Amino acid sequence: MSAPRHVAVIMDGNGRWANARGLPRAAGHRAGAKSARSIVENAQRNGVKVLTLFAFSSENWQRPRAEVRVLLDLFRRTIGREIDALHDNGVRLSFIGDRSRFSKALQSDMRDAEARTQNNATLDLVIAVDYGGRWDMVQAARACAQACLDDDLTPETITAEAMAQHLSLHRFGEPDLFIRTGGERRISNFLLWDLAYSELYFTDRLWPDFDAESLRDALDWFAQRERRFGRLPSATRTSRA
Ligand code: IPE
Ligand code: IPE
Ligand code: MG
Repeated sequence: MSAPRHVAVIMDGNGRWANARGLPRAAGHRAGAKSARSIVENAQRNGVKVLTLFAFSSENWQRPRAEVRVLLDLFRRTIGREIDALHDNGVRLSFIGDRSRFSKALQSDMRDAEARTQNNATLDLVIAVDYGGRWDMVQAARACAQACLDDDLTPETITAEAMAQHLSLHRFGEPDLFIRTGGERRISNFLLWDLAYSELYFTDRLWPDFDAESLRDALDWFAQRERRFGRLPSATRTSRA
């Protein structure tokens, strides 16, 4: 079986990685940013076409203010530092989430990065920031409601496809493989709609330790899966009921 086209990752475990070394959580986040950089390169090398990374959830605002500041500063600095290399490597950068709560400076950097890389085609790198799966479904529901008011839809013509058209990941397709590092077996309000038929891979490895070999392990595991989408296994598809 071939490589997953779209891989979505919850990059979890930065804080615990730092704790284990007697370092401040900020050091874990910096190590996590390095890990993200190497995973982008390795995903590209392994034939992945879309890589969606969860960098900051809509619930992460509830962390101490100092940590939120560290995360958003690091996010902004990482865009600044990496954008040239990403562009040179043909990466198209997109952000999903409710960016309205970010500083004007960060919003403008995000827009510039998207505009600059929009014609690239080697890899779609989607960063989810201030993202929540419920927020995404609510904003899609609102768009459908507005379309009804505008007479472009009726309640009867709101189908799964009509809804999906307004979801943040629509133009990227659904993730084939979902990876969560850091040992927790939960979705934490990531892509609630889009993960309906993704293969779910959980590893205890903390995000800063997730290297090329860890990614290879996840891709090998994916290659062993038989995706049925509710149908019968391919070997028995012609069998009688
Ligand atoms: C993931 O690492 C980064 C973000 C959630 C932004 P954590 O900060 O959640 O690290 P742990 O889970 O506390 O180890
Ligand atoms: C999920 O990790 C969010 C990101 C990695 C950006 P969390 O650390 O916030 O998730 P919980 O709190 O353990 O569910
Ligand atoms: Mg965590």
